Amino acid sequence: MEISIFKNPETTAKAFADHLCKKQHDVNRLNIGLSGGSTPKLLFEILVQKYSDKIDWSKLHFYWGDERCVPPTSGESTYGMTHEYLFQHLEIPEENIHRVLGENNPDKEAIRYSRLITENLPSINGLPQFDLIMLGLGEDGHTASIFPHQMELLTSKQICSVAEHPTSGQKRITLTGSVINNAKEVCFLVVGEAKAEKVNEIINITGHCELYPASYIKPTHGELIRFLDKAAAGKLQL
Ligand code: 6PG
Repeated sequence: MEISIFKNPETTAKAFADHLCKKQHDVNRLNIGLSGGSTPKLLFEILVQKYSDKIDWSKLHFYWGDERCVPPTSGESTYGMTHEYLFQHLEIPEENIHRVLGENNPDKEAIRYSRLITENLPSINGLPQFDLIMLGLGEDGHTASIFPHQMELLTSKQICSVAEHPTSGQKRITLTGSVINNAKEVCFLVVGEAKAEKVNEIINITGHCELYPASYIKPTHGELIRFLDKAAAGKLQL
């Protein structure tokens, strides 16, 4: 596990952008699982401002580690946020964007998206393998849309499952922990003091870390890299 700590959210996001830029140089295609929330917005802004001509965008195939079951035009849509902050500013081939159809019936969409991923990604250990999965960390220790009240999604044999937000009840489609841990590389991008307690508990395996889904993200054969700003690493005893 690699832990990289940066001065502030901007330098943390830029470090991740640099990492992504280097990774795409060495390959013809990069299958990426994106995360939602607010942190990716900073990354996308930096990619648009500083990397639009440094990255061969035709190599990148975009999937989502999780998506809310809402139409793409909804303010809740992670695809909608990604389109607003990234896609609409760059020349990305339409066929490289593999969105979750949040407007569909959740149970049917989980099956459809699982099939799409299986058909488009190489299979390793009997599961589809992403080249890179980007994850955030929720203040309750969730990641993707695997929340503490649905820990079974970590070991589910499914590729994607229907999840439910613990307070709003909002239905979501999420990759299971099994597929996340099958990735070549999993990168957490975590900033802000609000995450500091959980970051330390998860990395140092202390406190109630066993209650946090993010604690179970340990790639079976791939790399785990944590991009943290100083605030999110503020309680980390290294
Ligand atoms: C989502 C997520 C979720 C997110 C974390 C961190 O759709 O909300 O994918 O797992 O990554 O909640 O969100 P922030 O970046 O807003 O802190």
